[in-house]
Amino acid sequence: IPVERIRNFSIIAHVDHGKSTLADRLLEFTGAIKENSGNNQVLDKLQVERERGITVKAQTASLLYNVDGEDYLLNLIDTPGHVDFSNEVSRSLSACQGVILLVDANDGVQAQTVANFYLAFGNDLVIIPVLNKIDLKNADPERVCKQLQSLFDIDPSEVIKISAKLGKNIDSVLKAVVKRVPIPIVNRTAPFRGLIFDSSFDKYRGVLSLVYVQDGNVKVGDTITSYHNKKSFEIKTLSLLRPQEVPVERLVAGQIGLVGCNMRSSKEALIGDTLHNSNDVIEPLQGFTPARPMVFAGIYPMDQSQHVNLRSAIEKLTLNDSAVTVDVGTSPALGLGWRLGFLGLLHMEVFSQRLEQEYAMDAIITAPSVTYKLKLKPTKQNLKDGTDYIYVNNPALFPDHLTIEETLEPIVLGTIITPDKYMGPIISMCMERRGVQKNATNIDNERVMLQYELPLCEIVVDFHDTLKTLSSGYASFDYEDHGYKPSNLVKLSILLNGNAVDELSAIVHITKAQTVGRQMVLRLRDIIPRQMVHIAVQAAVNGKVLARENIKAFRKDVTAKLYGGDVTRRMKLLAQQAAGKKKMRMVANISLPRDTFIDVLKK
Ligand code: GTP
Repeated sequence: IPVERIRNFSIIAHVDHGKSTLADRLLEFTGAIKENSGNNQVLDKLQVERERGITVKAQTASLLYNVDGEDYLLNLIDTPGHVDFSNEVSRSLSACQGVILLVDANDGVQAQTVANFYLAFGNDLVIIPVLNKIDLKNADPERVCKQLQSLFDIDPSEVIKISAKLGKNIDSVLKAVVKRVPIPIVNRTAPFRGLIFDSSFDKYRGVLSLVYVQDGNVKVGDTITSYHNKKSFEIKTLSLLRPQEVPVERLVAGQIGLVGCNMRSSKEALIGDTLHNSNDVIEPLQGFTPARPMVFAGIYPMDQSQHVNLRSAIEKLTLNDSAVTVDVGTSPALGLGWRLGFLGLLHMEVFSQRLEQEYAMDAIITAPSVTYKLKLKPTKQNLKDGTDYIYVNNPALFPDHLTIEETLEPIVLGTIITPDKYMGPIISMCMERRGVQKNATNIDNERVMLQYELPLCEIVVDFHDTLKTLSSGYASFDYEDHGYKPSNLVKLSILLNGNAVDELSAIVHITKAQTVGRQMVLRLRDIIPRQMVHIAVQAAVNGKVLARENIKAFRKDVTAKLYGGDVTRRMKLLAQQAAGKKKMRMVANISLPRDTFIDVLKK
């Protein structure tokens, strides 16, 4: 197919606005899949995606569509629906010239609609606005058209109204793709250059990279090199996705295909990297920034005997998801484990859910934390090797306050869309979480869009749930990375009888130290069982105690009552006590049940 008849596009939408349903209809309409193959969404492959109804991993298909007797090749590039994956979204978008901006005609514009619009807009893509679900009784296309106009300056006459569910008006969507999306600029005679925009792992063929061929062509047997990675591979398989794989011998510029070349790990197929023929010297396709994890959590097996199984499950999952970073972590209380880095909250949730569902792993995942940036006071050493800035995501590694010059924390720009009657409580919540309002816009008579700069650490724990509760489920939220800002951070230490327990410590903003410290101490008082010795539980910052509670010693001997009683019963009781002790962990010379830690670390 000549380049003039190729179109590359994707669908962007807020969760549940019907992206997968529309993708299925497009596939049916162009004959790529049989009609009514049930309502099961063909492009969403992972079980988590089906269950949660969200798209996590981008899936892609090439469609053939005939207009006025001419065949067009429409490459539908499916993007993950959430900005946690904004890196993947923008990679996928960089292979497109246009997007379908899909909005629910009942729900209207939501937070992710806004975030996705700006991603597409920033990539200079043609935007085709489409209202979905016009079959719904409460659909109000007029109102939503006005929202699109006031927020994005979209002319209501350009908006296409469809029902993906009923298959209504799908044809106009395809026609608009052909008419409005620009022809890709490619060069078929130049040396081969291909952009890797997604990768997955296949048990038999190793890593499969999804590649957009920008220039030239590539065939089975060619030796290719990845530009940033500088590794070379021989191409074993090439296929088109229609959406099932169709093996081909060659891919040419303008096409999208799956490239298999026996890579062993997804870390070798870096998303955003450029592939080229090993003999050619080329310019890479775009600036390449590796995915940067924003949220970290410790992961431990429920039981140390499952350590090996958990390790292998994590390895397999990360083969498929190169954005997860893995470091070994240990904790005297929880044993051997790992510290994982994720792109965001949803990414973390999806990962732990996949561990559970696909590998039946029952793991302990600690409360998420973020990465702080610290500027250290100049010393001879760091002046020499330039290590005056360090990144810390583990409170145990937070340096002594006397050595720190400045502390900075990661900030996000959050977008909230809500019916205006919930605005008061939402604004209070954002203020409580140290948010700074940047913008408030009415998007129609009863809805507002609020934009806040918020510290990432304030949204990682139940921000979304609280927002939903405050707004009876009507508010939506999305956020994007907004860099680091100076902030007064301290390490809150928890001490048991004067010994710091690093696993219980936390990095907090100074204004929260007192409250958090108090809460921790009270909780520990309630859950640590009484022991033979008196325990003082303290929370301290920079050596200063902020809160203290006591757990009185446990004086009674369990067997005291049994003197003169049955000996076997007494032995049994002692044996039980010994077994109980095995589950205990010695921390700061005090034995604590492992469950105590699980309890505290999860919250
Ligand atoms: P993500 O994968 O998270 O982006 O969700 P999605 O946008 O793919 O949503 P999906 O296609 O899964 O649709 C969400 C829900 O809306 C499903 O229950 C669909 O059946 C329903 N739905 C989709 N299109 C229509 C429509 O035109 N009319 C009605 N009434 N329901 C629809």
